[in-house]
Amino acid sequence: IKKIGVLTSGGDSPGMNAAIRAVVRAGLYYDLEMYGIYRGYEGMIQNDIKKLESKHITHVLERGGTFLKSARSAEFRTFEGRQTAYNNLKSHGIDALVVIGGDGSLTGAHLFYKEFGVPAIGLPGTIDNDLSGTDSTIGFDTACNTAIEAIDKIRDTATSHDRLFFVEVMGRDAGFIAINAGIGSAAAAILIPEKKMPIEHLVDKLKIRTKAKKASNIVIVAEGGKSGGANEIASMVKKHLPYYDIKVTILGHLQRGGSPSSYDRLLASKLGVAAVEGLLQGKYDVMAGLINNKVVYTPIKKAIVDDKSVDEDDFRIAKILST
Ligand code: F6P
Repeated sequence: IKKIGVLTSGGDSPGMNAAIRAVVRAGLYYDLEMYGIYRGYEGMIQNDIKKLESKHITHVLERGGTFLKSARSAEFRTFEGRQTAYNNLKSHGIDALVVIGGDGSLTGAHLFYKEFGVPAIGLPGTIDNDLSGTDSTIGFDTACNTAIEAIDKIRDTATSHDRLFFVEVMGRDAGFIAINAGIGSAAAAILIPEKKMPIEHLVDKLKIRTKAKKASNIVIVAEGGKSGGANEIASMVKKHLPYYDIKVTILGHLQRGGSPSSYDRLLASKLGVAAVEGLLQGKYDVMAGLINNKVVYTPIKKAIVDDKSVDEDDFRIAKILST
């Protein structure tokens, strides 16, 4: 391997820049030529590929977003799109790839390896934390911190007005942000996609808390919840508790931005080096992750299929703490 291309794809996450920097620095350290592929697979298809030197990665570690930009490419899902992308890679002499992204992005890397034999390593870059083979994904910790900071502010105004707030956090298919932010902000209840909570249970819980004269109630709802998002849940609850002053806040893309936390910087840096070293050791079609602070390489197919689920014990703890 002499030339490595690096790209970020799918929803961006804080720490992606730190990961790109670590990949490029490690590549240059091992005397490799490094290439940035802009706008993910879309840029690979459109040949938006540039050589990266040390000067391109100074002062990017601390910045949110991704300077390589990101996209969700529909064309890469077709064989013709992947063929064009492969031809472009070859025209630059790129012989290996580091793909930073979530499950969709890593699926792309896996297909590309299978069809064209391009050695590829994935790095888990998503705020959702829904990849196996790593304790945490790059950006998850920062997103939880951002959510908690926002919920703390909502708590102030909720308490002043004795209000019930429904706060929607991101996580299309996974409740990791919801459960972490919920425990970390003393939520009255947490609704996640993996677990259905009958509306009657939620209403009973809120009634008990009212009797206990709780000054404010914040319910965290993951966007992909089984009973709908925060707006839907709020209007269902309103029917049962008409006397409550109910408000809804959707945190949305706020959670995807911002400077990465120290944990995400460290994680991204370690995994960036692990990606380059893994490729040099012939580890292909795998995702580099960190488990118990040790680098682990997991086949991409396993990392994306065996989606980890929210720890039952976290759910039990959240329940105890919200009574
Ligand atoms: O996968 C990361 C994520 O932020 C999800 O939590 C969310 O559902 C989705 O991306 C939003 O995607 P987009 O920015 O394309 O609307």
